[in-house]
Amino acid sequence: METKMNLENIPVQELIKSALLARKKSYSPYSSFQVGAAVLTVDNRIYTGCNIENAAYSPGICAERNAIYKAVSEGVRKFLAIAVVGGAKDEPDTYAFPCGVCRQVMREFTKPEEFVIIVAKSTEDYRIYTLEELLPDSFGPDHLA
Ligand code: THU
Repeated sequence: METKMNLENIPVQELIKSALLARKKSYSPYSSFQVGAAVLTVDNRIYTGCNIENAAYSPGICAERNAIYKAVSEGVRKFLAIAVVGGAKDEPDTYAFPCGVCRQVMREFTKPEEFVIIVAKSTEDYRIYTLEELLPDSFGPDHLA
């Protein structure tokens, strides 16, 4: 799979720190799985989000979509990278991979072969992928153009 991953302009540590801070706001009384995300825009801004659950379950939203939708609702639609942290414990002890729905939302606003996804337990312990790796052979806006 051809990847164009370029980490030169990605502040990996800062994104993870922002995601860890956002995770503290998680409202997840039903799953107890707290997630935080921080998305980097092409003009170097960071938008954060946490997961928000609901007693009726289906209105809940993931941290990644929350962060991306916050940016989009402010007119920002171009993104370079996202960091995601999550887990049931105070300190994440697992890599929280974006769910399929969030991957599809990333597909809407990014170039899959370039968009960087950082899944982290801490600023020292993380893995890096492109969206193309996590969502191969995908369907997106270009198919409807
Ligand atoms: N969750 C996220 O926030 N991001 C993901 O990519 C996976 C799942 C949230 C949704 C729900 O509030 C909790 O984690 C358990 O699924």
